[in-house]
Amino acid sequence: MAYPVYIFDAYGTLFDVHAAVRRYADQIGPDGARLSQIWRDKQLEYSWVRALAGRYKDFWQLTEDALNTAFALVPTVDRAYRDDLLAAYSRLDCYPEVPGVLRTLSEQGAKLAILSNGSPEMLDGAVEAAGIGPLLDGVLSVDTLRTYKAHPDVYDMATSHFRTFPDKVSFQSSNRWDIAGATAFGFRTVWINRDGKPDEYLDLAPEAVLSSLDGLESL
Ligand code: LAC
Repeated sequence: MAYPVYIFDAYGTLFDVHAAVRRYADQIGPDGARLSQIWRDKQLEYSWVRALAGRYKDFWQLTEDALNTAFALVPTVDRAYRDDLLAAYSRLDCYPEVPGVLRTLSEQGAKLAILSNGSPEMLDGAVEAAGIGPLLDGVLSVDTLRTYKAHPDVYDMATSHFRTFPDKVSFQSSNRWDIAGATAFGFRTVWINRDGKPDEYLDLAPEAVLSSLDGLESL
């Protein structure tokens, strides 16, 4: 076992944030992908602004607020799908390799947990829908702290939960900004660059880059 603790970001890393809009792709039409990207971008922007301003609202509320903005910016998409999209978001698909990789790490004796901006209810729904609950030793939500990533206190939740040190933790995220925060905190970081995005935050670099979670167990 390479690391005793593996911590995973949730949205975009384990769960596909674009799966909700994709479920209604035929009904929503050609602007669905743009709506989904704005939805995600605004959700994250709201988390950073609210953390900096000290005006916490939970991630489910931010997800609703962001979808409202996405509809306003993409008026060609029928707002009648709002409730369906939110319901789909609460039970997102996980990426296909996720259960197998988690099982392998767990069989190697590693402890596994999610560390996410998601509210506890959102994370419970996603974990249940993906059927990965039995493989996890923790589902840690920022809601306990009422702030958001990339505040160092958020990453400290993982070391406190497992009573360990940052250099004993391998942290995986598809969000390059989250990798920057986790690297600054002292975790070994692995950027899951699913979409082949260009590198950023060059002074806060991951130790490794993978295009999916496949291969993590042998890093
Ligand atoms: C999370 C978001 C940042 O799960 O993807 O924390």
